[in-house]
Amino acid sequence: MSELIRFENVTKSYENGKTILNNINFTINSGEFITLIGKSGCGKTTLLKLVNRLIKPDSGNIFIEGKEIKNWDIIKLRRSIGYVVQQVGLFSHMTVEENIVYILDLKKNNLLEKKKKANELINLVGLDESYLIKYPRELSGGQKQRVGVARALAGNPEIILMDEPFGAVDDITRRGLQDELLKLHKELGKTIIFVTHDIEEAFKMGDRTVLMNDGNIIQSGTLEQLLFNPKSKFVETFFGIKDFIAYLSLTTVKEVMKPLNNIDKISPRLLKVNSNIKLIQAIKIILESNSENLLVMDSSEKEIGIFSLSNISYNK
Ligand SMILES: Nc1ncnc2c1ncn2[C@@H]1O[C@H](COP(=O)(O)OP(=O)(O)OP(=O)(O)O)[C@@H](O)[C@H]1O
Ligand SMILES: [Mg+2]
Repeated sequence: MSELIRFENVTKSYENGKTILNNINFTINSGEFITLIGKSGCGKTTLLKLVNRLIKPDSGNIFIEGKEIKNWDIIKLRRSIGYVVQQVGLFSHMTVEENIVYILDLKKNNLLEKKKKANELINLVGLDESYLIKYPRELSGGQKQRVGVARALAGNPEIILMDEPFGAVDDITRRGLQDELLKLHKELGKTIIFVTHDIEEAFKMGDRTVLMNDGNIIQSGTLEQLLFNPKSKFVETFFGIKDFIAYLSLTTVKEVMKPLNNIDKISPRLLKVNSNIKLIQAIKIILESNSENLLVMDSSEKEIGIFSLSNISYNK
């Protein structure tokens, strides 16, 4: 994988002198899906805004495709980076269509091309063309989020920055949006930096998860690296690791699965697992196979339930 974005000794503070980002060193490869997690105020949004030069670092450098960000033509840079802002931020006086193709106006595309693009993108995010003439106020929270994603994709950017894009929707809608985004990521191969404060979302979506605190990157890695090889007490506590790992390693799938009803239709494509495997093994299978559900079998090979990550409920 080739390097796409690199932070080198980046620091940022505001007038009051408080350090917001403290010597950030980090590299993101082309095509990676990075999730950024950490407490409110730790600097996640600030880090994102540095990438598309909405703000400038006080010191240090950010490189994109090996070229220092300040040497990029700003228009070209913004076009190659899609941005889904925290709280969606659709333009309320514009229709869905105008919102989606907004960036193309900057690119001086003609009307027909814009229309085609809007149709293509609205379908891509799981809505139909009838939404294009609506205004943001006529949409549900989840629909707004979808339009936000469509807008970020409009300029066909290499990099997409997403700041808690699914923060404001209910759990079921969020799961749907997450799955669709993962599918899009697979199909389009974009590089995504995705901010979230939901641990499950961070691990589900990210190839790597970056944990921040007080303007520092504390640790980055895969679920296994962060859970099994925490570099510090802070990482351990953040993910509630010790107890959580004990829970995952001791609980069987059978204890948390959703039992099958006779009427349940079972997809023949579901991966089968034994009911006695532990949650930690089931999670691995889910992550590695990119499946959402597993079909749980008892020792006599009878189908007895469905397991998905949402069955895991753990309260410290
Ligand atoms: N324009 C600004 N002027 C002064 N301080 C700012 C400014 N923007 C952000 N900050 C401060 O910088 C810190 C980091 O802000 P940032 O928005 O990056 O946090 P965050 O991790 O995205 O938080 P959240 O999860 O709540 O969105 C906060 O303490 C915030 O108050
Ligand atoms: Mg933020």
